[in-house]
Amino acid sequence: MKIAVLSDIHANPLALTEVLRDINEFNPDKIFILGDLILAGYNPNKTCQMIFELKDKYKDNFYIIQGNTDKMVSCCTAGLIEKTKEAFPCMGYSLEDDIKITDKKYLDYVKNLPEKLFLELNGLKIELVHGSPRNQSENIYPNLSEDEVIKMTENSDADLILCGHTHIPCGYSLKNNKTVVNVGSVGRSALDNKKSCYLRLVVDKDAKFYTEHRLISYDNIQASRHVQARGFKHCEDLVRMYLE
Ligand SMILES: [Fe+2]
Repeated sequence: MKIAVLSDIHANPLALTEVLRDINEFNPDKIFILGDLILAGYNPNKTCQMIFELKDKYKDNFYIIQGNTDKMVSCCTAGLIEKTKEAFPCMGYSLEDDIKITDKKYLDYVKNLPEKLFLELNGLKIELVHGSPRNQSENIYPNLSEDEVIKMTENSDADLILCGHTHIPCGYSLKNNKTVVNVGSVGRSALDNKKSCYLRLVVDKDAKFYTEHRLISYDNIQASRHVQARGFKHCEDLVRMYLE
């Protein structure tokens, strides 16, 4: 059984288009999406429309959870905007603009997504989370100690935990026999080369599994120009994240 696992698309249809091209070549049986469809990209509506098309294509084989930024945009308050502007100005001003430009049907969709999903495939127990099993906004980075990752994942019964959120792909094979894989980001890569990343997962009949992070080039310069064109205050700080 072949599965494509994507996360952190962040309103970037150019990146999603190239990733979907590679996914089509893989021809997976299922699609998992680990949240952060929107916030601080350039086109949340087109992105959500593409996700809806994928959902229609894969039907019961399409699984999706909510990311922290999906929750921020869809449950936004004036207080949250001000707090975010203080902590991270370009994100705060983007948030203020995102809630104006995102269609209500897409806001309602991401608002009602589950925070986690648990499923069993060929006897392999898999949990889908955005940050970690204990917190939607927790960072599973590549440089953590094994004990830190064990603590973050101890409330999960899964053999394989799939996460995103940090925008940096990584993986841990833990001494308690759990495996944790951060699938990276489609739309706002934190890698030096700025390539999109997603995960190809293959689960055998006997629950053995194999993973491969796929790094995909896309026109990040064009995406940065689209972000610049939004013109909200401090958007140049966001633009830099696509380039440096
Ligand atoms: Fe994200």
